Amino acid sequence: MSTAPGYQSPTVTVSATLPKRGIGSAVLIIPVVTGDDDQATVVTNPFLDAEAVGEIEVALRALGAKGGTDQTTRVLAPSLPVASVLAVGLGKSRDEWPGDAIRRAAGVAARSLNGTENVVTTLSELDVEATVEGLILGSYRFSEFRSAKTAPKEPRLAKVTVLSTAKNAKADAARGTNVATAVATARDFINTPPSHLYPDEFAKRARALGESVGLQVEVLDEKALVKGGYGGIVGVGKGSERQPRLVRLTHKGGKGRKAKKVALVGKGVTFDTGGISIKPAANMHHMTSDMGGAAAVIATVVLAAKQQLPIDVVATVPMAENMPSSSAQRPGDVLTQYGGITVEVLNTDAEGRLILADAIVRACEDEPDYLIETSTLTGAQTVALGSRTPGVMGNDEFRDRVATLSQSIGENGWAMPLPEELKDDLKSTVADLANVSGSRYAGMLVAGVYLREFVAEGVQWAHIDVAAPAYNTGAPWGYTGKGGTGVPTRTMFAVLEDIAEKG
Ligand code: BES
Ligand code: MN
Ligand code: ZN
Repeated sequence: MSTAPGYQSPTVTVSATLPKRGIGSAVLIIPVVTGDDDQATVVTNPFLDAEAVGEIEVALRALGAKGGTDQTTRVLAPSLPVASVLAVGLGKSRDEWPGDAIRRAAGVAARSLNGTENVVTTLSELDVEATVEGLILGSYRFSEFRSAKTAPKEPRLAKVTVLSTAKNAKADAARGTNVATAVATARDFINTPPSHLYPDEFAKRARALGESVGLQVEVLDEKALVKGGYGGIVGVGKGSERQPRLVRLTHKGGKGRKAKKVALVGKGVTFDTGGISIKPAANMHHMTSDMGGAAAVIATVVLAAKQQLPIDVVATVPMAENMPSSSAQRPGDVLTQYGGITVEVLNTDAEGRLILADAIVRACEDEPDYLIETSTLTGAQTVALGSRTPGVMGNDEFRDRVATLSQSIGENGWAMPLPEELKDDLKSTVADLANVSGSRYAGMLVAGVYLREFVAEGVQWAHIDVAAPAYNTGAPWGYTGKGGTGVPTRTMFAVLEDIAEKG
């Protein structure tokens, strides 16, 4: 057994035929569509013969299954060497399936399996990678903090056999496994409570994970941060006994001078009380997710190493706990961000931009071609776009590229503007900038405008606000359970792959 840090995903194997034996305890997951007769119809595949398909359809129809999206129906199929069959609906039939429809169906199927250790699926004939990702992410669960009293008794999904006749099936399955493992690793970080995940501990776990895949790791502690002039990270961190950190993880995959360099930056506030500008008590516990950007960025650079992307990727991750105390920064304090810009801290709850500004300036010293920064930055993201749509800002061209890729992989980031005039709202009477505007309007965009001040000339930059999308406080859906979602890990990885391919 591997003891490497990070999420331990199920074992995934690829087969070009339905195994004749050894799957007696398995559930067979198959996609069904809504036929012209409005009844569940098994999607044609090379693994099941007409007899098996007929048997399954008779059983499904007897139960009233229609093959609608997200509909699951479990039936027996005595002619097949499996324990049972789980049909998952895809809705009306189409010639081509978007990846996320398959990922989502696999996720819905995995969530309905509860207690099944072994699955075989033909869903993979439509899209191997999406099937693997959906099954792993849908079966994700986090029970580290449950004692025997409430720990789940049912075993977790452990063995997945994906059926596929595609040429690249093996590589696609491996990639899907690595991608889903990265997302699950980000979820684990987010779901670990703030009592157990504070800056020093987060930094140690990031180091262990990074070193396990051969990344170069550098960690600045509180002394190094003060000495280095990281006024934003120090200012936010100084209300807490648990000292701040800055973690840097480097993947050197680029060969030759033309290879692209990408900087990743992620907000790592391990808990956000608001500081002296303290938050209301209702739902304050959701602020355990305020390191969701950091979690995604760490998972992404680790994934880049695992997939051996031929580019350089450097993650710069500021970590701090935002607490009120007699040593905390006050509204009205002035701090100096890394690089020298001075800021009047009018609201200590706008702390994310303070730690991110330091990290962005540091990241730009490496002269990257691209910089992607992501953070649970503003409640205004949720007001503008809701709980599942990340806001993407930045340089127009790169922003649009990131949003388009995000939509193509089902994380659905949406491009938003950074209007020039909003900068006037960040004027301070005593310092170069204020950390909040005096207006209630466009809070997500104001935060983006603040961050833009720190991005070096010539760097293609995108900022992804995932305040709500990083953490699901609603019901489980698709391949997303309650709690940490891992968004936007897959968006960032898709962008890295695109850059590796096209520059
Ligand atoms: N971490 C919060 C943003 C947040 C809110 C994330 C809800 C997830 C869910 C951030 O640090 C914050 O407090 N932002 C303030 C900014 C304001 C003071 C300008 C906000 O959005 O209210
Ligand atoms: Mn805050
Ligand atoms: Zn915050």
